[in-house]
Amino acid sequence: MEADIVIVGTGFFGLTIAERCANELGLKVLMLEKRNHIGGNAYSEADPETGIEIHKYGAHLFHTSNEKVWKYVNQFTSFTNYVHKVYTNHKGEVFPMPINLGTINQFFRAAYTPDEAKALIAEQAGELAGKDPENLNDKGISLIGRPLYEAFIKEYTGKQWQTDPKNLPASIISRLPVRYNYDNRYFNDTYEGLPTNGYTAWINAMVDNPNIEIKTETDFFDESQPYNKAALVGKIPVVYTGPLDRYFDYSEGKLSWRTIDFETEHLEVTDFQGTSVMNYADAEINYTRIIEPRHFHPEREYPEGKTVIMREFSRFANEDDEPYYPINSDDDRTALLAYREKAKQETDVLFGGRLGTYQYLDMHMAIGSALTAFENLVAPHFRDGAPFA
Ligand code: FDA
Repeated sequence: MEADIVIVGTGFFGLTIAERCANELGLKVLMLEKRNHIGGNAYSEADPETGIEIHKYGAHLFHTSNEKVWKYVNQFTSFTNYVHKVYTNHKGEVFPMPINLGTINQFFRAAYTPDEAKALIAEQAGELAGKDPENLNDKGISLIGRPLYEAFIKEYTGKQWQTDPKNLPASIISRLPVRYNYDNRYFNDTYEGLPTNGYTAWINAMVDNPNIEIKTETDFFDESQPYNKAALVGKIPVVYTGPLDRYFDYSEGKLSWRTIDFETEHLEVTDFQGTSVMNYADAEINYTRIIEPRHFHPEREYPEGKTVIMREFSRFANEDDEPYYPINSDDDRTALLAYREKAKQETDVLFGGRLGTYQYLDMHMAIGSALTAFENLVAPHFRDGAPFA
């Protein structure tokens, strides 16, 4: 196929641009994907032993308040009425998250009204009043008071960063939500749910057009295959959703990421923990949380007497690890500015998605930003010859 546009990466950013180009503009699209499957980190597959849908790169819950994105995604899948809720185990007792009146009353063995709880937390948060927070501990205490911070946030965040919070910058958190009612819905968005037939069916529906050709196990930087950077850039418009620093051969330094190791276990019980996500707040337990994927789809007929759980361990990413969460250190921010300047010079390449812009994006944000890039840059380029990037 003679392509009109090449898209590197088949996550939601690349998929959205591909779908719009093929279905809206009638273009021929070539998608390159390094992995052996499409969908980026949202990819899921059925566990061979139980049939339970496993989110291979970590739990993916769809939620959005963006009407345009909601309308767009509903063309490709319907959504279940799953409502995400999270619990946390602290010293062998289970509390609802995010911190709400239920958490507060259980923790303080009390029956505070919303106003009483607000007054208590304000008083506890005043402990360091008038002092600029020097580290994450000070910041946490100044936001929600020492007792709640130390129980639910301190050691959990320490595990996420593999660093004692007294050595973490205050800037890691800007707010810690506390709800003074019993609402423990995790997301505040207007819409949420999981794709009824799974992520892979949704993803496949987006590229169900003969004008979209996909080459998996094809690395854009591998010059032993014909669809590489040197062969394509400058000759055809390219949408690049791989790592920004890799595109420029790390010339400004490596951008740092955190990754997650998943430890998957099959158990001979129907239900291990009664809910999809259980956080472990304390430092003695070295994983951050346990996911039990069967709870994402209570409407499905999964087998009795068997379940799958995934323990998550957080750590800094090395070269060969999956980059999951940008660290955004001072050095990263300096390098990012330099890379952005370089990206501006690449007039035939549109950088997008979470790796291509070095920022954490939820799925609805990746899709929303791709729709905007399509409308503002890609479509005007192909319709009227406007600059591509
Ligand atoms: P994404 O990373 O999905 O895709 C990029 C693709 O480019 C990958 O497939 C990669 O293999 C490919 N690629 C990279 N380099 C390449 C090269 N050189 N050549 C060819 N291909 C290359 N969001 C949400 O809304 N709810 C949630 O619950 C979660 N949960 C969650 C958990 C974890 C652990 C993570 C890391 C992320 C989430 N997300 C999420 C975020 C969600 O995964 C994210 O929004 C989308 O993956 C973003 O899509 P992108 O297309 O930007 O990147």
